[in-house]
Amino acid sequence: MKVSAPATIANFGPGFDVFGLCLDEPRDVIKVKESDEVMVEVEGFNVPEDPEKNVASISALALLKMLKAEMGFRMKIIKGIRPKSGLGSSGASALGGALALAKLLGVENRELIIKAALEGEKAASGSAHGDNIVPSLFGGFTILKSLSPLEVFKLDVSFKLVIVLPKVEVSTKRARAVLPRYVPLSDAVRNLALASALISALKEGDIEKAGKLLDDYLAIPYRKPLIPWFDNVRRAALESGAYGVSLSGSGPAMFALGEDLGDIGKAMVEAFENEGIGAEYFITKVG
Ligand code: HSE
Repeated sequence: MKVSAPATIANFGPGFDVFGLCLDEPRDVIKVKESDEVMVEVEGFNVPEDPEKNVASISALALLKMLKAEMGFRMKIIKGIRPKSGLGSSGASALGGALALAKLLGVENRELIIKAALEGEKAASGSAHGDNIVPSLFGGFTILKSLSPLEVFKLDVSFKLVIVLPKVEVSTKRARAVLPRYVPLSDAVRNLALASALISALKEGDIEKAGKLLDDYLAIPYRKPLIPWFDNVRRAALESGAYGVSLSGSGPAMFALGEDLGDIGKAMVEAFENEGIGAEYFITKVG
């Protein structure tokens, strides 16, 4: 059985832990077959092969436990999404592991697959947030209303965007540890306004308008010490014509919407380099 789980942009501006966008590329590919033992082999980016430590096998084992199924498996992971990049690398592996096993067993219950995948996400990032796993499974733009019971609203959107990937890592665990337990009501109201307007713009297919609604007052301000280059790279993107720009998940990857995506990507890479950080950009579309 072979599945592929795409990278995602969690939060997508103002939608902390709720919004997610599925990307066409990059993706993790996971192959699995039944076996007497539990074995994991990894190709591509380096992640643990110990089944107790690998996010995909942790999810697969969680699914087996939920189904009370006693079986082993051999899993091969072609890890195409760089870990700790902000592109939902652990979410994709977690989903891929659970999904591959579910397919092998003929299980189609999405809530169960997501529940198992959350175990892998939790092991990787210390928190069972679903805004990477859900868009990776559903595709398009997702609004995660509730995990249990699973309630997801999906928008079928279609546009291209540029992603910039700097050669630094941000641990989601740390990026969540710096968040406050409470936020000022005025910030919550600002995010609510942005998030609501963003959904309306995306439904209209107005990407220029959507780009102007990517601010966030709930997470990014508190994460600034971990991403000290954020404001300069954002400015460079806007000055080179981006409609809008934000952090992908908890970073370090950033994304921008706009017309001349190549020019915007180059300007953002240059801004990272001015901060002494190597970076690369790529253009992809909604998956
Ligand atoms: N919503 C999560 C966060 C995504 O921002 O912590 C992490 O990939």
